[in-house]
Amino acid sequence: MADVKALVAKMTLEEKAAMCSGADFWHTEAVERLGIPASMVSDGPHGLRKQDLKADHLGVNESIKAVCFPAGCATAASFNRELITRMGEALGEECQAEGVSVILGPAVNIKRSPLCGRNFEYYSEDPYVAGEIAAAHICGVQSKNVGTSIKHFLANNQETRRMSSTSEAEERTLREIYMPAFETAVKKAKPWTVMCSYNKINGIYAAENRKYLTDVLRGEWGFDGYVMSDWGAVNKRVEDLKAGLDLEMPSSGGINDRLIVEAVKNGTLLEEVVDQAVERILNIVYRFEENRDKTAVFDRDVHDVLARKVAEESIVLLKNEGVLPLMKSEKVAFIGKYAEAPRYQGGGSSHINSSKITSALSMATGNANVSYAKGFEDDKDVINEALMEEAVTAAKQADVAVIFAGLPDAFESEGFDREHMRMPECQNVLIHEIAKVQPNTVVVLHNGSPVEMPWEKEVKGILEAYLGGQAVGAAEYDILFGKVNPSAKLAETFPLKLEDNPSYLDFAREEDKVVYREGIFVGYRYYDKKKMNVLFPFGHGLSYTEFSYSNLELGAEKIKDTGKLTVRVDVTNSGAVQGKEVVQLYVADRESTPARPVKELKGFEKLELAPGETKTVTFELDKRAFAYYDESLKDWYVESGDFDILIGASSRDIRLKKSVQVESTVRLPKTYTLDSTLGDLQADERAYGYVKKYVDAYYESMLGDNTGDAGAEAISRQMQEAMAKYMPLRGLLSFADIVSLSELESVLRQINQ
Ligand code: BGC
Repeated sequence: MADVKALVAKMTLEEKAAMCSGADFWHTEAVERLGIPASMVSDGPHGLRKQDLKADHLGVNESIKAVCFPAGCATAASFNRELITRMGEALGEECQAEGVSVILGPAVNIKRSPLCGRNFEYYSEDPYVAGEIAAAHICGVQSKNVGTSIKHFLANNQETRRMSSTSEAEERTLREIYMPAFETAVKKAKPWTVMCSYNKINGIYAAENRKYLTDVLRGEWGFDGYVMSDWGAVNKRVEDLKAGLDLEMPSSGGINDRLIVEAVKNGTLLEEVVDQAVERILNIVYRFEENRDKTAVFDRDVHDVLARKVAEESIVLLKNEGVLPLMKSEKVAFIGKYAEAPRYQGGGSSHINSSKITSALSMATGNANVSYAKGFEDDKDVINEALMEEAVTAAKQADVAVIFAGLPDAFESEGFDREHMRMPECQNVLIHEIAKVQPNTVVVLHNGSPVEMPWEKEVKGILEAYLGGQAVGAAEYDILFGKVNPSAKLAETFPLKLEDNPSYLDFAREEDKVVYREGIFVGYRYYDKKKMNVLFPFGHGLSYTEFSYSNLELGAEKIKDTGKLTVRVDVTNSGAVQGKEVVQLYVADRESTPARPVKELKGFEKLELAPGETKTVTFELDKRAFAYYDESLKDWYVESGDFDILIGASSRDIRLKKSVQVESTVRLPKTYTLDSTLGDLQADERAYGYVKKYVDAYYESMLGDNTGDAGAEAISRQMQEAMAKYMPLRGLLSFADIVSLSELESVLRQINQ
């Protein structure tokens, strides 16, 4: 291993400053004099976008041919850690073969709104799923000695004004919703690098946010790689460096290097800070270089097969009223442009130059029972009467119509947010018209995030294919015809309409301040709390078989928050075909002082079961499964009490439930003042011991004369008690001559000691 410290010691200040930013769009600096090589990074996340010639961060110029795997929206729906690790391994192999040291991604920002233009790259509205899938992805890539760059840290949940807006969220919201995916991935999978986001967090640019880049990321979570900026996210280079931003990308053309040199020379920046950043960068450069597999080649066809497998596990069967799977003997009309040319990836920096694209229609070659009508164009949202007529005729003549619809590129992409949640009107009209003439209609959707479905009741089947990568057509075909049993589940809620979404009032406005007013109530955490109907709930996804759940067992009835709880449940394939089920575990705090979601996902396992087969799933829950983030404690805290352990096939299909009592071993730091209410003091047994005699005397004085009939006395006492509950301690001074100010102050000192 190269002696990085010794190398840094030999570098001049100018060389070190230069190392802190890219040599060009995709490379770190080389120092020939010292034999330090340049190192290449490239986009990701779901394929390798290596540009050999003209570089850009928008996916405009050509990159090498690579395999386009399903995008994050789809891979999360697989709920299959092992499969996503295999996908990561394939990406790592491609990077080894192409000499790329770090593949940028995974992208784990939380889907605050269905409208975020980059939702297709992101995993989920739920931080637990996002963290688990991210960790699986990272483990896969890095097992091939190639780094990842988990992004975009932090709270980058919209594209509108992404480089100037500030995401205004409470610390608890950040800790419970927006940070855990990063936290889990950093702790479990140790990404080699982290990419900071463009936006500000509570007024401070991510790039210069010492609290998150250093105190939390390194201090609390133990990150030991380098932090790079998103492309162009650097604001004040010297401040950013001090905050913990090691590598600026891409190059600043030498401008920022000079600022660093100047700052060291004029004493406003310690040279050790520069040394530390350079050391972190070089550690990763050498980790890759010294483990290079120079003989590596990658087989695009083998990876294409894997991309197909991932797509098969990522397509969600949303609805099926006996129409699927199709039979080979049925006459099937494939309708819609995406049967022939599927939309399988999104626009922007993740855009892959795919090695091959398989459409569902190409899979039907040789199947004389499948006909095709294009139905719509997707460059403009206008009804093409001729195409529509042809499609309606094809649908009438068939036994089943399968419409391949979805969002065109122009509707969702990096760089802008969607303005609404609708599909193009021309496609909605087409679906209505087909459904009128063909009772057996199925819709296959190609989109990176939820759409409204005004035709949902008119069709018998809906498959959500998301942006399923280059092999999506093969996976769709095999699912439609039952060769593959669908097994994916939604990693996000499909609301009935956009206005139902909790961020609706505060999302992507033309102002830089974005207030996360909904707090922790994102996705199902909100819809559940509000008892709202949704189109399809989080965790939903059907299969061609049935699963039954039994024998839920908890390892204990009572645990301490320092302990662990084992949860076991049996799952049986009670249907007729082989299938996979995603077993979901949610935890519900029955009663809590702060507002908490009705339930939160804290575990999932995907199982494969033959017909009649039963398997036992085991989960282990620790403190974090029960805790909320307490801002006074600045840590995770479990409020003692009863928690329900819910096992379900979706967030709205809970099959089994048992409860456990969890006891806290931590006392919240509380300081009482004259303004503390009697009720709060009363709730704290220890504190109340000190003031009880005064409160009793207060009641006595207020109620002592009330010797009327029993009923009046009861009402009066109840009322007095209610009023006393919210009365500040100082109230004892104004309402009765019971205690003096100095006595109360002395009591407070004792309580607070
Ligand atoms: C995107 C990143 C991407 C980078 C390099 C930026 O605009 O936000 O996700 O990795 O460009 O292309």
